Amino acid sequence: MSEPRMPRVGQVKEITSLSNPIVKDIKALALKKFRDEKHAFMAEGLKLVIDALDGGWTIRTLIYSKAGIGNPAVEKTAARTVALGGLVLEVSEKVLGAITRRDNPQMVVGVFEQRLTKLPDIRLSAGDVWVALDRVRDPGNLGTIIRTADAVGAKGVILVGETTDPFSLETVRATMGSVFSVPVARATPEAFLAWKAKAGAMLVGTHLKGSVDYRTPRYQGRPVVLLMGNEQQGLPDELARACDELVRIPQAGRADSLNLSVATGIMLYEVRRAALEIGDRLA
Ligand SMILES: C[S@@+](CC[C@H](N)C(=O)[O-])C[C@H]1O[C@@H](n2cnc3c(N)ncnc32)[C@H](O)[C@@H]1O
Repeated sequence: MSEPRMPRVGQVKEITSLSNPIVKDIKALALKKFRDEKHAFMAEGLKLVIDALDGGWTIRTLIYSKAGIGNPAVEKTAARTVALGGLVLEVSEKVLGAITRRDNPQMVVGVFEQRLTKLPDIRLSAGDVWVALDRVRDPGNLGTIIRTADAVGAKGVILVGETTDPFSLETVRATMGSVFSVPVARATPEAFLAWKAKAGAMLVGTHLKGSVDYRTPRYQGRPVVLLMGNEQQGLPDELARACDELVRIPQAGRADSLNLSVATGIMLYEVRRAALEIGDRLA
């Protein structure tokens, strides 16, 4: 199949004014209310935009600054966007900075349709690992966890209860593009527990009062759902009671707990250790 050609003049809209209504609509995506209303979100940087297109995400608008003119990768991405029915905007750096709220904005920003996995559609097999996050509040933590889940080969992330938005600019930035390859689902605590009861998974909760060292359980043989608690409050009793194991990562020193994303990284590498070692031997 031939590659899409560079968009012709007329297929690219040039905008320099901050008060342009299209720019105002894109800027509004900084607010969750508008992201939800438009079912859309922004991703900054050419690499992320290309990752998203390669992953089949639907692009609505590609915005690039004048610095992108003549850059073959930017032009190819613009041509792909036009071929997919998206809008391409060439804007001043000032406009791009206002859209992303940065002094030194990336050369390229994409507006994509949101995509969430439905909890009932998740089918588990032995060896699978999912991360479930109870009321995660911090976008940096959520983005880092999605990125870590990607790195370790986890199957996806389930957001339980009221959480920070996986499609905020801060979260997407912190995922470094992994938001486009790690499925994310959302559930109320009740729906999550009902799904868990049927899914045949081992639910491993992490708790500062856990009685079991995190290296003790055998994580092989069954799919694992790793449940992490809220940054301030930890896991509520209702969720902790539903866990098949409640594990603790030992600590020396005076810190009363680990940062949520650090604890999740330690747990994920432990749960995936056997699988990763097999992978090493095969590599
Ligand atoms: C910052 S901690 C929560 C601290 C909270 N004040 C509490 O009492 O649970 C956030 C989450 O990270 C995980 N976590 C942090 N340190 C841990 C540890 N040493 N062992 C097990 N889980 C830990 C747990 O899932 C915890 O709910």
